[in-house]
Parts: sequence; structure tokens; C-alpha cells
Amino acid sequence: MLMRQLGINGPAVSALGLGCMGMSDFYGPADRAESIATIHAALDAGITLLDTGDFYGMGHNELLLHEALNGRNRDEVFIAVKFGALRTPGGSFVGFDGRPAAVKTFLAYTLQRLGTEYIDLYQPARLDPTVPIEDTIGAISEMVQAGYVRHIGLSEVGAETIRRAHAVHPIAWLQIEYSLLSRGIEAEILPTVRQLGIAVSAYGVLSRGLLSGHWSTERSQEAQDFRSHLPRFLGENLQRNLSLVEALRHIAHTHNATVAQVAIAWVLSRGTDLIPLIGARRRERLTEALGALELHLSQADLAQIEATIPPEAVAGDRYDAGQMAILDSER
Ligand SMILES: NC(=O)c1ccc[n+]([C@@H]2O[C@H](COP(=O)([O-])OP(=O)(O)OC[C@H]3O[C@@H](n4cnc5c(N)ncnc54)[C@H](OP(=O)(O)O)[C@@H]3O)[C@@H](O)[C@H]2O)c1
Repeated sequence: MLMRQLGINGPAVSALGLGCMGMSDFYGPADRAESIATIHAALDAGITLLDTGDFYGMGHNELLLHEALNGRNRDEVFIAVKFGALRTPGGSFVGFDGRPAAVKTFLAYTLQRLGTEYIDLYQPARLDPTVPIEDTIGAISEMVQAGYVRHIGLSEVGAETIRRAHAVHPIAWLQIEYSLLSRGIEAEILPTVRQLGIAVSAYGVLSRGLLSGHWSTERSQEAQDFRSHLPRFLGENLQRNLSLVEALRHIAHTHNATVAQVAIAWVLSRGTDLIPLIGARRRERLTEALGALELHLSQADLAQIEATIPPEAVAGDRYDAGQMAILDSER
């Protein structure tokens, strides 16, 4: 397995990480046995990085990981956990809590649900606008000193917050959306993390399935999940975006590859500090995603891909207006 290092002196993780969110939440029903089989297949293929969040299914995802990791060597797995989102029993999002006492409480419950004594990387899922980032990171830093956390990450925050957080404790990675359809980080955020020696854990590499080659208008109509609220999956925007995907499919065919493999390989090509997270929930999808590691794109190939999907051709924001408004990374 190709490996990537988090920062200059940071730990090494597999170049592809398995994002486990869709096994518990957001993307419609998932099959528990197949989810666990997919996690096992990922580990057996050499993937060491598993990404989860305490609010993915309100603890469901962590309990699923606990079950999947039973009998495995804990020290060979790098578990990244997001925390802080506040949800009701019905699943509604009702805020974010980054207060120091809340950070420690979230962590205590996560350690129990995962059945582990430490978390490899702990990160606030969003910025709590009512709490200075220094306080939130300071609390995680205390948990590092106490041995419960190994590394600290950030998620969907902008350049200023990254600098402030990094001044309190070294930040190992920034998790943020990045793909051929979402290139917003290239202007300011990517240069900032590179200057500071912070890696990028890229999510939405397949734009939540839209850029996978397996999405369709029919699937959008069927999907009564989180994506049915996302501007890119709706109406004329969807038609426009699917036409870009079809153009990419022609290029993929010339490489005997799939759209998903080209999309993942493109992110891998953007730098050795980028670690794509793959949202596979089934072994079949995982196998396809792993194929991206074998796909070598020349500079000419990359130029052709980027000309086929120029950033301005993408229709619709990556989140709905309400969520865009609370993203520190979009300020
Ligand atoms: N920090 C944050 O704010 C944030 C936000 C979102 C996600 N994340 C993390 O990032 C991870 C990845 O999530 P994502 O939505 O960004 O993933 P993604 O890989 O962009 O999209 C996953 C979707 O694409 C479909 N898909 C089609 N072909 C696939 C293939 N070959 N491999 C994988 N998936 C394929 C999936 O499977 P089906 O066909 O089974 O539906 C699923 O519906 C999450 O699990 C989570 O850990 C973080």
C-alpha cells in the first residue's frame, strides 16, 4: 500500500483512507454485515486509516467500528474521529459544541464506544463560533498530554483558524472537501496548510457519489437522503454536472479505468500531502476505489481532465445555503 506522512514528523497512514460515515448515516440505508466486510477488506488490502465521527448515526458508526476491529491489532489501525455536532434523537442538527468540558466529555464517550484506550486523531467537525479555537484545541492538547489522543486535526475551517489552532498545538491534518468538482481550497487554504506542514484529508473526492460514474437522475429521485438537499444533486444543476461526469467517462475509458478511479487518481496526483477518503460501503466499491492506486496519469492526461471539468463549469454549491453560511472554510 502506498503510504503518506502527516506533516514532516507525523505518522504514516495509507494513501487512501476509508470514510465510514455512509455506513451509518446520510446516504440512505446500509447493510451492517456488508459494512463490516468492507472494513475488513480495506484493512486486508493495506488501508490503515479509518475515518469516523461520534455523530455519524449518533454513536452507531463508532460501535460499528468497534465490532469490525474486534480481533484486529489496534496499533495497526489509525482511527480519526470527528466530534462536536449536536443532534436530536430524530437526527436533526442543532448546533456545535467546542467548549473544553464538552470536548473531554465527547472523547470519554467515544473511547467507550470504540472500545479503545486512545484515538489516533481527534478533530472538531466544525468551528464553534462561540468558543475561541484556542480553547477547543487547548482541551484536545490536554487529552494528548494525558495519552487519550495522539494527534489533532481540523475540519472545514479557513486559513486564519488553521493558523490560530496550529499556534496552540501542531495540527496533523485539515479534513476538507476536495475533488474535481470542489476546488475551493486551492486559492488560500491549501497554500496555508502547505506552509505550515499540515496534511489534507480530502473528503467528497467522488462528490458524495455524483462524480463516481454510478449516479443518475433516477438515483437522485430515489435518494431520500442528505443529498436530496444538496444544490449539485438538484434539477438543472444535476443535468449539468452529470454531463461533466459523462465527459470524464470518455477519458476514463481511454485508460481502461472508471470515472471513480480517475476522480480519486486526480486527487492523489495533486500532492503527497493529500490523503483521499473513500466513502465505500460495499466491497465492490472499495475494490474499484483501490484500483485508482494503479492508475498513473501523465501531465497531459491531468491537463485533459482539468480542461474537461473546469471549476467554473460545476453547477451549484457543495452544501445548501444554511450549511454554507456556517462553514468557516467558506468565509
Ligand atoms: N469533515 C467533514 O465535514 C466530512 C464531510 C463528509 C464526509 N466526511 C468523511 O469523508 C468520508 C467520505 O465521504 P464522502 O461523501 O466524501 O465520500 P465519497 O467517496 O465522495 O462518496 C461516497 C458515495 O459515493 C458512492 N460511490 C460510488 N462509487 C464508489 C467507489 N468506487 N468508492 C467509494 N464510493 C463510491 C458511495 O457508495 P454507494 O454506491 O454505496 O452509495 C457513496 O454513496 C466520510 O465517510 C467521512 O468519513 C467528512
